[in-house]
Amino acid sequence: MKVTVVGAGNVGATCADILAYREIANEIILIDIKEGVAEGKALDIWQKAPVDLYDSKTIGVTSDYSKTANSDVVVITSGLPRKPGMTRDDLIETNAGIVKSVTEQIISFSPNAIIIVVSNPLDVMTYQAHITSKLPRTKVIGMAGILDTARYRAFLADELNVSPKDIQAILMGGHGDTMVPLPRYTTVGGIPVTELMDADKLDAIIERTKFGGGELVKLMGTSAWYAPGSAAAQMVEAIVRDQRRVFPVCVKLEGEYGIDECYLGVPVILGKNGVEKVIELDLNKDEMALLNESRDHVLEVMSVLDRLK
Ligand code: LMR
Repeated sequence: MKVTVVGAGNVGATCADILAYREIANEIILIDIKEGVAEGKALDIWQKAPVDLYDSKTIGVTSDYSKTANSDVVVITSGLPRKPGMTRDDLIETNAGIVKSVTEQIISFSPNAIIIVVSNPLDVMTYQAHITSKLPRTKVIGMAGILDTARYRAFLADELNVSPKDIQAILMGGHGDTMVPLPRYTTVGGIPVTELMDADKLDAIIERTKFGGGELVKLMGTSAWYAPGSAAAQMVEAIVRDQRRVFPVCVKLEGEYGIDECYLGVPVILGKNGVEKVIELDLNKDEMALLNESRDHVLEVMSVLDRLK
């Protein structure tokens, strides 16, 4: 299996490192426009192989997309990260141009690849990659739900003083302040979270989750990379190993949840064809109202992209 990671910044390099370390693909191309950066990071990852005992090889490339030819999966992490005080949507103008040009180049060498978008604003950059690639919607998806759910699960694990391994949760909607964590679908070792925590504490965790990316931007002056890189690698693994994992993933909705023509995080089965199935939960009135609010926000940012075009 050949996997390309576009962008050798913090998120891209972390993703490539995990793909190599966990031998998720035997050939990993790390590509960037900055001369020497991808080559250097790929060499560093390769020099870790004798220590960590893996043989997947990462190859670094500056701008030469011919080296990405026939990739099975491509992860797009390119674009600017946000700085303190910015929202993800503030990045749209710069990142839309970058994602469009990267997608065109990727598709010319790997017309059958599955594309995982990580660049922000996530839902709208997935839209950008989808319309540029002209691939079926099942093959152009965005990574956000695994990351946002991971933050929610980590905060719950802290509060309950339990292992994060035992927390299962689903979260829907856009990758922004309107995301929709779903307590009704959150369990701790099979126990509904609502039986273990009072509503006020749970609400506080949900609020913290919605602003989880911003919390890190404020602390570090730039956006996060360990959890985002790892979450993207987990999606690659589900695809290349045809695991049929159930994850929240950003995909174009075509009528599911009564929503059409909008890119939104929903639970899906992820396997060798990308999205094998969109799972439709039986949301109650309140949950549906929150999802529609999130849809409205994403549609608004999608229309900004349409105007830029
Ligand atoms: C994240 O959630 O960590 C990313 O979307 C980056 C950001 O700017 O928050």
